[in-house]
Amino acid sequence: MKTEPVTNPLDKLPPILKKNLDRNLCVCNEVLKIDIINAIVDGATTVAEVKKQTYATMGSGCCVKQVERLIECLCSPEAKK
Ligand code: FES
Repeated sequence: MKTEPVTNPLDKLPPILKKNLDRNLCVCNEVLKIDIINAIVDGATTVAEVKKQTYATMGSGCCVKQVERLIECLCSPEAKK
């Protein structure tokens, strides 16, 4: 029987996206980057779902691209380098 190794979801992020995890990614609503990452890891795979869980992107929408990028990296089957 093959067991999957436990992987840290952060390993899927390119180094530049692993920075400032405890800073606000969504400055309009003061949502921490790590909170957005956790929401994605917990199953929010679209911007709409991340928005519902964290209120990120609900200000002027200026962080949508960053949220999309995080979803793209975290939800891809392969770890990005
Ligand atoms: S920074 Fe998130 S909506 Fe503006």
